Amino acid sequence: MGKLEIEKSGHGIGADIQGLDLTKPLASDALAAINEAWAEHLVLRFHGTKLSDDQLMSFSQNFGPLDMRPVGKADQNSVPGNHYVTVISNVVENGRPIGGLGNLEAQWHVDMSYNPAPAVASILHAWAIPDRGGLTHFCNMYAALEGLPSRLRARIEGLSLKHDSAHTSVGGLRRGFEEAANAGEAPGAVHPLIRTHPVTQRQCLYLGRRQDAYIVGMALEDSEALLDEIWAAAVRPEYCWEHIWQLHDTVMWDNRCTLHRRDGFPNEQQRIMRRTQIGGDKVG
Ligand code: OGA
Ligand code: MN
Repeated sequence: MGKLEIEKSGHGIGADIQGLDLTKPLASDALAAINEAWAEHLVLRFHGTKLSDDQLMSFSQNFGPLDMRPVGKADQNSVPGNHYVTVISNVVENGRPIGGLGNLEAQWHVDMSYNPAPAVASILHAWAIPDRGGLTHFCNMYAALEGLPSRLRARIEGLSLKHDSAHTSVGGLRRGFEEAANAGEAPGAVHPLIRTHPVTQRQCLYLGRRQDAYIVGMALEDSEALLDEIWAAAVRPEYCWEHIWQLHDTVMWDNRCTLHRRDGFPNEQQRIMRRTQIGGDKVG
């Protein structure tokens, strides 16, 4: 391996890894260095050349077993014959979207947190990017927890959150789901609001997404008010970093301790992303 360089984003989350060819198998010392940098910076970015789906899958498998792709709004985020690569795109071919999320703004979320064993990581690779817009923002949930006012922190200690599984991050209903009467009735997995990261052993906030989230056991109104308060305190510019895509960038993030969101972009521009995710474990 050439020398691997790690350059921090300077925003308390995110780093560039330089000097690595993702099309090639990873040497064990490089993998160890990446894992260490990932635990410290939560989001890693690699500039490089285009990866085929097989190359993206091979690289991803260094970090654990691949997870099956999620259910989209329609069956429009899939690669025929491949259960592991998700397509995120606004491109329409023969009247059919080739990927999920379109060109819309995606709200802050965690991938797959509505599942009982949510994906540990997501790895997103750019095949085509727009001239403007479509930035992906990341927020550090260790910092969010540490920054909570102590009274708010005391109030949420021991509470559990239900993570809505019906909606995508752009607000559309997933295939096979209906609108719930209210957040309390929404389907989805329940996880602790404060979790301990299994690798770093540090505590962080675990929020998922705001839409139809519900704090288990509370009156709906109280849950809504407390969630609004937590979100306002958690997502602050000083905990966040915006990633501006370059063609063929690969970005991997830790879903256990980050949130991410995406800006919208002009629909006449093409954005084509391929994503894998690493299978998860129960949240503790
Ligand atoms: C995702 C996602 C953001 C983006 O793939 O999970 O949220 O920038 N994508 O496309
Ligand atoms: Mn996402």
